[in-house]
Amino acid sequence: MHDNQLTFAWRSPSNIAIVKYWGKHGDQLPDNPSLSITLSQAYTETTLVARPLNPNEAPGLTFRFAGEQNPAFAQRVAAYIRRLGSLAPAVKDYHLTIETDNSFPHSSGIASSASAMSALALCIAELQATIDGHTHDERFQREVSIMARLGSGSACRSVYGPASLWGSTEIMSGSSDEYAIPLSNIHPVFQSLRDSILIISEEKKQVSSSAGHALMQGHQFARARIAQATQNLKTLLPALHSGDIITFGRIAESEALSLHALMMTSDPAYILIQPNTLQVIQRAIAFRESSGTPVYFTLDAGPNVHLLYPESHEADVKAWINNELLPFCENGRVIHDHAGRGPQKVSSSTTLGMTKR
Ligand code: DP6
Repeated sequence: MHDNQLTFAWRSPSNIAIVKYWGKHGDQLPDNPSLSITLSQAYTETTLVARPLNPNEAPGLTFRFAGEQNPAFAQRVAAYIRRLGSLAPAVKDYHLTIETDNSFPHSSGIASSASAMSALALCIAELQATIDGHTHDERFQREVSIMARLGSGSACRSVYGPASLWGSTEIMSGSSDEYAIPLSNIHPVFQSLRDSILIISEEKKQVSSSAGHALMQGHQFARARIAQATQNLKTLLPALHSGDIITFGRIAESEALSLHALMMTSDPAYILIQPNTLQVIQRAIAFRESSGTPVYFTLDAGPNVHLLYPESHEADVKAWINNELLPFCENGRVIHDHAGRGPQKVSSSTTLGMTKR
């Protein structure tokens, strides 16, 4: 072990957007403001070891995912680090060893970019902050959010829990296209919100989110979409403060359907939902109507269904999922998650069984 070696390790969660980010321009800037609930059980843990370079040694990167070398991921990470440029000048003085792993199965069809890129951004930002001599404060979190955004737009929102907003909008002072901001005074019902993620398909989706965002440039409904997202945000914010789960659920569902309608009306058009996605959605609506249980669906850019509901209904909803919905899930797979408080610093020997050092 090198004497001046620095080690940083972070666990960072995924998030589920209620108002969806869809469409981007410039340097990963969003076309519309978005808002998400930060999750807790679906997370990435990343450890960064920075070893000072020996004389004449060029900066380098060793990368392992789930304990294995992964050249495709390694290339993406190297390109990302280059892209950070002046945000993280310290990296060029080190050989970086990055080890990363997810809490959720790799093939679960769960989008991992938000947790992966926020965990990586936390490690790199902490390296830079250590060199610059400034400790963990608001400025640190903002820098992390900016760096995470450059890796994956939605990742910038994972820096804060239980809810955060990204994208400049006149209805929220301090909002920015460059970073997310935390939302305060979130009603307890949302601070402990449940999100059961029904894995409809474990396959890699045919059209990536990045390609989907690109199709919003020149999309026939682009302007209407920006207006809709802003209006939904305006309605959602007071509901988040007052605990109005009905308004929250109505917006979550409308945003999910709008997102997929935008895909279906892109040029070229494409469809990511599957027959079982609709089966689950229709059963969720029927269950809500017949039982009065406040359970609402949302979707990200794929076929999997997120069912959102208050903690107080956890037992009923889980029983209903087990009785009625498992046949629609690939290999009966469901991930039960809940709102969380955001990233956590961890020791470099981790619960995910990464190499102890
Ligand atoms: C539908 O953040 O994955 O989940 O910025 O290209 O990495 P890139 O896209 P990504 O897009 C997420 C889209 C979404 C909605 C959301 O999370 O707001």
